[in-house]
Amino acid sequence: MAQIIDGRAIARQLDERTTAEVDAMLAAGHPAPGLAVVLVGEDGASQVYVRRKIKACEKVGIRSMEHRLPAGTPQADLCALIKRLNNDDSVHGILVQVPLPEQIDTRAVLRSISPDKDVDGFHPVNVGRLTTGVGGIVPCTPLGIMLLIESVLPDLKGKDAVVIGKSNIVGKPVANLLLDEEATVTVAHIYTENLSDICRKADVIVAAAGAPELVRGWWVKPGAVLIDVGITRKLGEDGKETLVGDIAFNEVQHAAAVTPVPGGVGPMTIACLLSNTVKAARNLLE
Ligand code: GUN
Repeated sequence: MAQIIDGRAIARQLDERTTAEVDAMLAAGHPAPGLAVVLVGEDGASQVYVRRKIKACEKVGIRSMEHRLPAGTPQADLCALIKRLNNDDSVHGILVQVPLPEQIDTRAVLRSISPDKDVDGFHPVNVGRLTTGVGGIVPCTPLGIMLLIESVLPDLKGKDAVVIGKSNIVGKPVANLLLDEEATVTVAHIYTENLSDICRKADVIVAAAGAPELVRGWWVKPGAVLIDVGITRKLGEDGKETLVGDIAFNEVQHAAAVTPVPGGVGPMTIACLLSNTVKAARNLLE
């Protein structure tokens, strides 16, 4: 039987460490770390995510500041707000929830965030730091994925890792982090030919293609570690909605370990955001 990697439990442990770090900062006479969360428009999913992030801040002692702007906000106004937040010493982390409305150039907005306060790790400077392996802020989901892998496979040196998905938010940064651990990394995607053959050799598979149940049981080598980043709603025959990942969960009992959907990667993302915020606050103190 494959071990189920409990993302909720590992996220709780990370939150405990983050809380202890915040307490230590307060005990040393520093202000609480502050996270500014910027939401433009009324996107339903974004509102849910932002609410969760703000609630999570409270739990660990991070001061959160929410900035809600109307959907029609001009780019210049959004950039002016970011400039104010960049210059505000009580703000240590800035998160602009994406997607942004059409009239806004997302890349330009993300570039306008100070790299030192970029807790999402999306700024080109942080992307560059990650690809050259010189620290910086690591994007939350990839960081969470690495912690989940390390919980069952602490030494990745020489292991064969396959990342399915080439997004800037997950696939590319995860591939770089695996390389930093001396894994042999293949980055594949939905157009990759012979994907099943590539996966069958892998010691680790990170499935982040957004393609429900793409990875079948027969693609998986016995003893492999499987990380499922996909989350898609599926209507069952009984009319009930379920969430499925990119891995056919019921077919991979011969794996060493697998993350469930939900309860795997998802909970790690917010825990890593909180941890990144404290890291940014500490770096800004130095
Ligand atoms: N939208 C979906 N995921 C994310 C994320 O991790 N960060 C931000 N800023 N927006 C998102």
